[in-house]
Amino acid sequence: MEFRQWAIHILSGETLQEKLFTPETLTDHTPGPPLIWKEPARSHELRFQKHFRKNRLPAFQDHKNLDSRVICLHRFAGHELLAVEIMAYALLAFPDAPSHFRKGLAHTLKEEQEHVRLYTKRLEEMGCKLEDLPLYRNFWSFVPHLTTPLKYISVMSLTFEMANLDFAPIYGSSFAKHGDLASAKLMEKILKDEIGHVSFGCKWLHKWKEEDVSDWDTWLKNIPPRAHPGRARGSIFFEENRKLAGVPDDWIKALSQAKH
Ligand SMILES: [Fe+2]
Ligand SMILES: [Fe+2]
Repeated sequence: MEFRQWAIHILSGETLQEKLFTPETLTDHTPGPPLIWKEPARSHELRFQKHFRKNRLPAFQDHKNLDSRVICLHRFAGHELLAVEIMAYALLAFPDAPSHFRKGLAHTLKEEQEHVRLYTKRLEEMGCKLEDLPLYRNFWSFVPHLTTPLKYISVMSLTFEMANLDFAPIYGSSFAKHGDLASAKLMEKILKDEIGHVSFGCKWLHKWKEEDVSDWDTWLKNIPPRAHPGRARGSIFFEENRKLAGVPDDWIKALSQAKH
């Protein structure tokens, strides 16, 4: 199956099964003209719902309760599903991007599909299905800003996935502290993959930036005001995870000083 066909299948498919479909063979012979997908199709059960203040994630001390951990894992599963759709969006929006970039993007998309599978499996073990709690639009509200591949990596890889280099270990250690080792192990796997996704973003940003502009300044120029630097980090800053992803030292330093 062609990347284009696969991306259309993900965005026009309403069910989880369609969104998690991974063809055995993927090719990119005919990327076609740019296609800007406005809104992903979703079944009633998977529809976007309005996010209220009361829907904020439970406090860490509440992780002792299974229900609180379920809410967290469900939210993360929702983020992974959004990542799947937005990567499909990027495959359709940027047919003229270098083929190596598109291959890397398709590879990342497959890993995001696996993340959704892993989270939904863990949620089912805990007695919850993805349809049981509300899902939110979140990252999709940034999509109108993703007009170039550089903006795409700045927002997705280098802001939201970058933030996961803190959130995954923060939540993982809290789950472990409250005796949920299975969920903690899952967060470790997510962290490992997200380091790779951030590394992908770093490499391409470095390649595409103007010669006399730093990587950090290039990133700042390519994120919308709503995705301020603080969105790329958690309350605890894990420098070592960023080093593993190949984030430049001056970027790590500047981000470590950004207000969360
Ligand atoms: Fe992910
Ligand atoms: Fe990712």
